[in-house]
Order: sequence, then structure tokens, then C-alpha cells
Amino acid sequence: MKRPETKTGRFFVPFWTHQKDNALTDLSSQITSVHERFAESLSVARDVKDLDSIRVAYLGRSGELTAMRRRIGLLPVEERRTVGSLINEAATRMEEALHDAGRRVEAGSLLEALGERIDVTFPGLHPAVGATHPVRQTMADLCSFFERRGFAIVLGPEIEPEYYNFDALNIPRDHPAREGFDSFFITDTLLLRPHTSPMQIRTMERFQPPIAVVVPGRCYRRDAVDSRHLFMFHQIEGLLVDDNIHMGHLKGILTAMCADAFGREQALRFRPSFFPFTEPSAEVDTTCPACQGNGGECRTCGGSGWIELGGAGMVHPNVLREVGYDPAVVSGWAFGFGIERIALARYGVDDIRLFYENDPAFLEQFS
Ligand code: FA5
Repeated sequence: MKRPETKTGRFFVPFWTHQKDNALTDLSSQITSVHERFAESLSVARDVKDLDSIRVAYLGRSGELTAMRRRIGLLPVEERRTVGSLINEAATRMEEALHDAGRRVEAGSLLEALGERIDVTFPGLHPAVGATHPVRQTMADLCSFFERRGFAIVLGPEIEPEYYNFDALNIPRDHPAREGFDSFFITDTLLLRPHTSPMQIRTMERFQPPIAVVVPGRCYRRDAVDSRHLFMFHQIEGLLVDDNIHMGHLKGILTAMCADAFGREQALRFRPSFFPFTEPSAEVDTTCPACQGNGGECRTCGGSGWIELGGAGMVHPNVLREVGYDPAVVSGWAFGFGIERIALARYGVDDIRLFYENDPAFLEQFS
């Protein structure tokens, strides 16, 4: 960079030869002018060498400000203190500006140096990569299991009229089984579905046998939340209707479904049960993932050693009649399993709430 011009003679000869009244005014405008030229030079400085030249030109032994300071002695005694402090103030501001410019130039040179020499072998920054949520993954794997066996996947509404949710499923008004589904009602007759079974009716209304579908989806219940219960959870419903379908087919497919979902040996227990829309009915349990079936004080299974996965059974003749099928000609099985419960057993999780707490430390284990 070109060394800045000092113009010493032009500025310094006149300032103390002026009339006394004007001397201080002139001096401060001369200092301002020196400061302006100094700032302009700084703004175009590109490197440390430029900054050194500027320092020498203004603050060095023969710099402009130093020359002004040397001549203070020629001033009348009463003005020396004022002039001295004006010059000192200017010098301090210039030093500070030089310091700031030094940091700016250094940062710029570092960037330039890096730009010139990029080490392409240096390990990169790894962006956080998300993963499929364990419940969604379990649902996808269950659907894939059934798709591979020729089942269609169908989805249904989450808000249902009582007809599909209860009446058509052989649960008439005032039947005590309605209580078991602890539903959220939206109006007197519309509710958030507490299970995916209404889709049995919607599917059979539309299609004739043979029918083979699974229905994954959200369900809602006024259940108290604990290690096994949520107010919103997912079920997968299965429905097969054809000639000569029997309980053995149901047991076989559910055993195969669980083996596929768990990917390992995992005990299953079929327990006689009651659902108004199936006869006979069963509930299916698996070993508790927290206590490995030992029970005792286990919080996850309540001490039974088992976790209930879902309900199942042979479609009730009243349900088949409701959709216009003849129970003497066709029969079918149906099941409804909780997907979060399957995920609990699959991943060995001891509390269903963990799936929805959005704790990265928990979720990262599934990536
Ligand atoms: C039913 O919902 C029946 N519709 C299942 C069925 C379908 C039976 C077809 C026969 C034929 P149940 O209320 O037991 O049944 O619920 C089934 C499963 O949903 C439970 O075993 C459990 O895995 C899951 N589940 C039920 N309530 C909750 C809840 N509050 N939180 C998490 N999972 C739940």
C-alpha cells in the first residue's frame, strides 16, 4: 500500500500562529481532518503491512500527531494543557481503531489462508440424521408382513358414528360393553374411534368375500395414562372372510405375525375372552419385556408377567348378517392389536409413555 501523505507543513505551521481566539477552534478542526484521513486509510488497509505504515504515518516518531505534540511547547502556557488533551484523545481513538482493524485483517487472512489450503481428507461435520419412529417402524413392518401374504391395507376415519363403532359390531345401545371402550364423544352420536374395528363393517359393506385386509391407525380412549396405557395409541385390525375359515387359521397367522415383529422367540399366550363382535374370542399376551415374565413388583405388567397385545376371534354371525353376508356360507376371523404394545415387547421398552416424550436420548437408540 502507498504510504499515506502526511501534509505536515500545511497543517501545523499555521495553527499556533493564528489569533489567540481562533487557535483552539482551528486546532480541533485540524485534528478532525487528520483523523478523517487516518480513518480513510484504515478502511482500505488489507494487511498488517498496511496497518504498520498507517501507524508510522500518524502515530510514529515523525507521524502527524507526534509532530503536533512536539510543538505544544511553542504555545502560550495557558493553552498547552487543553491542546495536549485534545491531541491525546485523538491518539487514543486512533490506537483503538488500529487495534480493531488489526483483528479484522487477521480474521480475513485466516479465511484467505483456509480458502487456499482446504484439507479434503479432514473429517466433515456430521449433520444429525433422523430415523423412523419405533411405533411407525413397527406399524410399517406389520403392514409389510400382511402385504406379503396378499392382504390389502385400508385406512378409515378417526371420527365415527355410533353405528359403525358399536351397533353394527353387535354392541347395541345400553350394552355394558360400550363402557369398556371409554370413548371421547364429539356429539351425542359421533365419537373418536376407540378401536379400529369399525373398519370391519365399512370393508364388508363395500366388498364381497373373499376379504383379506389390515387396518392400521390411531385410536382414542379416556384411559388413565400409565406404563401400558395412553389416551391416543395405534391399533392394527385384521379381517379375513372366506369359506371354511376357522380359529386355527387365526392362531397360525397371529403366531407368525408376532414371530416376524419380534424377530426372535417370544412366548405368546392365547386366553379365552369376550368381545360382542367375535365368538369365540381370545386375548393374546406376550412375556413382559421389563421383568421377562417374572412378575413380582414389576410396574410394567402390574406383576402378572404378561403384557396384553390384542384381542381376536371368529367374526360373530350377527356382524356377518348386519353386512348382508350369510354366516352359513362364509366365516371369518378378526383381530385388533395395540401397535405400541407390540413395540414395547419388540424393543424391550418398559414404559409405553417413552414413545411419546420426544426425548432424543431415548429415540436415538432406534436410529
Ligand atoms: C379391542 O379394541 C378390540 N376391537 C380388538 C378386537 C378386534 C377383538 C377384532 C376381536 C376382533 P381391546 O380393548 O382389548 O380390544 O384393545 C386391543 C388392544 O389395543 C389392547 O390389547 C392393547 O394392546 C391396545 N390398547 C387398548 N387400549 C389401549 C390404551 N389405552 N393404550 C395403549 N394401548 C391400548
